[in-house]
Amino acid sequence: MGKVFVFDHPLIQHKLTYIRQKETGTKEFRELVDEIATLMAFEVTRDLPLTDIEIETPICKTKAKVLTGKKLGVVPILRAGIGMVDGILKLIPNARVGHVGLYRDPKTLKPVEYYVKLPTDIEERDFIVVDPMLATGGSAVEAIHALKKRGAKHIMFMCLIAAPEGVKTLEEAHPDVDIYIAALDEKLNEKGYIVPGLGDAGDRLFGTK
Ligand code: URA
Repeated sequence: MGKVFVFDHPLIQHKLTYIRQKETGTKEFRELVDEIATLMAFEVTRDLPLTDIEIETPICKTKAKVLTGKKLGVVPILRAGIGMVDGILKLIPNARVGHVGLYRDPKTLKPVEYYVKLPTDIEERDFIVVDPMLATGGSAVEAIHALKKRGAKHIMFMCLIAAPEGVKTLEEAHPDVDIYIAALDEKLNEKGYIVPGLGDAGDRLFGTK
């Protein structure tokens, strides 16, 4: 089974409180999502492999560590996932960005791919799939399936707020995927919103209703 990490860092929790509040406007909401994504990326990349190289400081020659050059890909689930991309790229500027778009089939109510664009060297990359809200888990499961189908071998999932139902569904469908969460909330309501949550993340990010 993949691991579930809930980040209890005070800065993340503080910023999360402000994006939950209904008075927080679009500009501030977007800025805070960006900042939280950066802070989460710092934790998510904790185990990236390092290698020693020879360098010369003004004082002497020495060995120092650099990232092994492992290739990363960030994949937002359209559309709310887009709000987390720039924050992650601040720390991993060379990551490639793919996109997965899903719509809900009106008959089955299941998410179906309508757009998938990924880097070409997919098998060599580690991927971070991002969506601010892990609600039922349906979109995350389908997006990760879309990546695996095309050859992705190592995938992580990162979201701001998750419902226990979504975590369970994602863990069961993709036990190899580690899940990174800023807050694990109480439940889903009858309309599929996370409680207490923050409302519709896409609408709040893009100022739509
Ligand atoms: N998607 C959202 O944007 N918010 C929720 O609460 C659930 C799904």
